Amino acid sequence: MARLDVSEIFHGILFPGHLHTQDSLQLALKFQFQDTDVLIVSYPKSGTTWMQEMLTLIFSRGDPHLSQTIPNWTRAPWLEHYYCADLLKTSTAAPRVLTTHLPYHLLGPTLQDSKAKIIYVSRNPKDVLVSFYHFHKMANFLPDVGSFPEFLNQFLDGALHFGSWFDHIEGWTSQAAALNLLHITYEEMSLDLQGTIKRLSSFLQCPLLEEELNDCVRHCSFGCMKDNKMINYTLIPDEILDHSKGCFMRKGEIGDWKNMLTEEQNQYFDSVFKSKMQNSTLTFVWEKP
Ligand code: A3P
Repeated sequence: MARLDVSEIFHGILFPGHLHTQDSLQLALKFQFQDTDVLIVSYPKSGTTWMQEMLTLIFSRGDPHLSQTIPNWTRAPWLEHYYCADLLKTSTAAPRVLTTHLPYHLLGPTLQDSKAKIIYVSRNPKDVLVSFYHFHKMANFLPDVGSFPEFLNQFLDGALHFGSWFDHIEGWTSQAAALNLLHITYEEMSLDLQGTIKRLSSFLQCPLLEEELNDCVRHCSFGCMKDNKMINYTLIPDEILDHSKGCFMRKGEIGDWKNMLTEEQNQYFDSVFKSKMQNSTLTFVWEKP
């Protein structure tokens, strides 16, 4: 750990060096999935932590004990992080909940023929961009953020850490039929948290009583999660995440991009989006009135 100044380049994609090594990334690609595994897949800043929380609560039937006593990266570790293999050796969690930011072209082959349940979380890329920009300001393991216009170009070029948002969503969602994959958007989570948890509990074959469902909803509200140090990343020391420069649980809103992008930047974003997503069959929740 503690290689804050170094990034790993793996298959042409940058990953923060304090959590990723060439070995840990290689190991992720050879991961032996079990049919009972549940894998959260997302591009960063899409609602990953929120989904980790929902799954913990669903499997705990609304009881917040685990989510208030165990950090999210231990409950639902990232496959590609250096500590994952050791953690899983001692884990007794059933089912195992795992997380990844890897793109489909890297992890997809490993999942072939797997019955593992995959939950793909996506979010309006303009909100991802803005959230990621603010996160870069506090994350000492990411490059200096530079100006917003520069950051916007890097995002659209797929040059940021974790690679291209466009490749990520297109890669995973185009394979949904071949995988046991449920696609949930941040916007659905935001607009109908209870409905989202019902959808998840049905996909996970973990039915909840009305009271359990209500407990899940309550404990994964933005306010509850913001105050929970097992989720809000305040356990991470300042030299890694500088808490004087921002807050992981920042705003938790749909459409914050409108406070950041100029009309010109918005039109440019739309034109790049249209061209990069021209072959996509996805219809996005955030496009609905
Ligand atoms: P903002 O920076 O827009 O506030 P990830 O976990 O993938 O890194 O995503 C982090 C984003 O999800 C942050 O967005 C964070 O505030 C938001 N988030 C986390 N929990 C949330 C919740 N319960 N409700 C709404 N947004 C949440």
